[in-house]
Amino acid sequence: MSRYDEIYRRSLEDPEGFWAEAAQAIDWTRPWERVLDDRNKPFYRWFVGGELNTCYNALDRHVERGRADQKALIYDSPVTGQQRSYTYRELRDAVAHFAGALRAQGVEKGDRVIIYMPMVPEAVIAMLACARIGAIHSVVFGGFAANELATRIDDARPKLIVSASCGIEPGRIVEYKPMLDGAIAQARHKPERCIILQRPQAEAPLVAGRDIEWNEALAGVEPAECVPVAATDPLYILYTSGTTGQPKGIVRDNGGHAVALHWSMRHVYGVEPGEVYWAASDVGWVVGHSYIVYGPLLHGNTTIVFEGKPVGTPDPGTFWRIIAEHGVRVMFTAPTAFRAIKKEDPEGEYIRRHDLSGFRALFLAGERCDPDTLEWARRQLGVPVIDHWWQTETGWAIAANCLGIEPLPVKPGSPTRAVPGYDVRVLDDEGGELGPNQIGAIVIRLPLPPGTLPTLWNAEQRFVDAYLSRYPGYYLTGDAGYKDEDDYLWIMSRIDDVINVAGHRLSTGQMEEVLASHPAVAECAVFGVADELKGELPLGLVVLKAGAEVEEEALRQELIRMVRERIGPVAAFKLVGIVKRLPKTRSGKILRGTMKKIADGVPWKMPATIDDPAILDEIAEVLRGLGYPKS
Ligand code: COA
Ligand code: AMP
Repeated sequence: MSRYDEIYRRSLEDPEGFWAEAAQAIDWTRPWERVLDDRNKPFYRWFVGGELNTCYNALDRHVERGRADQKALIYDSPVTGQQRSYTYRELRDAVAHFAGALRAQGVEKGDRVIIYMPMVPEAVIAMLACARIGAIHSVVFGGFAANELATRIDDARPKLIVSASCGIEPGRIVEYKPMLDGAIAQARHKPERCIILQRPQAEAPLVAGRDIEWNEALAGVEPAECVPVAATDPLYILYTSGTTGQPKGIVRDNGGHAVALHWSMRHVYGVEPGEVYWAASDVGWVVGHSYIVYGPLLHGNTTIVFEGKPVGTPDPGTFWRIIAEHGVRVMFTAPTAFRAIKKEDPEGEYIRRHDLSGFRALFLAGERCDPDTLEWARRQLGVPVIDHWWQTETGWAIAANCLGIEPLPVKPGSPTRAVPGYDVRVLDDEGGELGPNQIGAIVIRLPLPPGTLPTLWNAEQRFVDAYLSRYPGYYLTGDAGYKDEDDYLWIMSRIDDVINVAGHRLSTGQMEEVLASHPAVAECAVFGVADELKGELPLGLVVLKAGAEVEEEALRQELIRMVRERIGPVAAFKLVGIVKRLPKTRSGKILRGTMKKIADGVPWKMPATIDDPAILDEIAEVLRGLGYPKS
């Protein structure tokens, strides 16, 4: 039996023994009473009775045990021309100080704090400061609009919001403050305070009595010590797209999270404490939470906060400069970043300008990794390129080629096999288990391993409905695919309304809600179409209300603007067509899947239940007008 097989089998046969052993790597202020509490199925809790502090585990203990002068965080910002680093001691001190500032503003254990910030070290400091005093952070990605921020404010009900005056996108300054003010005006819940980091690129006026400037908030406050919390207390809430406009608040606990992430650094990514590990993502996404902030710091690595893009800041060599300059050993990003680089530097000329001899492996996730991109990266970099599959809900990899256990042969297009702790199955509609190479719903047999979501914030029933009811005893991942004869997983598509645009998870249902709110729109459908760079792009088709008098091009622009304003630029919604009717089944279900296939130019069958087949010809014509299928 291979080492992977042995470890995998043990993780499923004896999960309590397996994770109790992994939990030795974490410092607990009180030991747990039960490793796994399964008395309240289908809810499971890990390390019940235990107490710890995640910030202590990420910072203080490293300072106390020999890493005080090791770099903890390197900020590299090609968009501002800045670089700055913090040792573990400096980062601990900065975090303790800001935690004191939060406390001085009345933030206590269990209070929520929303963080709406660009990729600056202060975003990480704010997250860890919350963890330090037991407050629950909820980071909102900067590319979301005020309306999305307002939805999260109303759901999380934060006592305080930490934000910055602006973010920097190539070619434009994104002013955060007007969006923050707009969101607070729109939200029913009002935070008591906002702490604003003023950036010189665009300073923002402060609202008297509510806003405090970052440095002012720090003035004269005492640093805060780590507050022990229950292993099962929430560390953070991270909202992610679901089927409707109401995002799901994924809850992450403290204990299971620390154990799983620490374990994953060595076993999945194959890094040793002290090494430099870089996830080129954003703290607004789960990848940023797990692998810019918590994973590397819990494990004593050096992490990089990168404020830039894979291309254009200033060129497609930025990634290689950073790897060489900071001694990155293992990197993690989304395949779309590599597609962008490949497009601008197909021969890899920029790669050869840098010394990448210390670089060991590239991990990709966030969307399906096309074999071409994987092969290109492998050829150019000469290191293992590992596709791995996971989601905001799980917080760490469900399937991967675990380099730290035993590298398995790579099959391009597959994220390899289930990671220890995850009992992954493929089920048919009736819940029967499917054999090799048969496509079905990918599910995980309960219990999920530590670090995965215990519930949704303020929405326990929605948690059960969305994930646990479809197949009792299993967690529904929302992905469809199959296992091959070697137990390799192949992730094919989502079974819901989620699409992945440039590695960003978005809901087509939510975009439909925006389009449908236009007074001239009778009905609409949004679906993802294949895109060479971003993987998928949303495309909307709208049917006008009878008698609506609108100029078509003006309407198109208005709909595009509405999605940008209500969801955000990150939705990348730019394709919209006006049609007379939408194809439906006889029971009235819109045939989005068939339209997607027509747009992608892949073979499709006339659905047996279609109400009026002629509509598809009209749709195909409108799609052609939008440039789909691509030749
Ligand atoms: N704040 C404000 N706006 C943002 C933003 C942020 N943090 N992030 C993105 N946007 C904006 C972009 O400026 C762009 O606006 P535009 O329509 O005015 O051009 C829009 O949102 C769409 O962004 P994106 O889809 O990222 O496209 P892009 O053309 O700017 O960049 C890539 C394309 C591939 C270079 C970029 O998506 C990338 O680096 N991806 C890496 C993958 C990644 O980070 N994934 C996260 C999960 S691992
Ligand atoms: P997110 O919650 O933003 O991380 O998005 C999770 C979803 O992205 C998954 O449910 C998949 O649909 C998709 N995804 C993530 N990683 C992969 C991968 N390696 N291969 C295929 N799809 C992926």
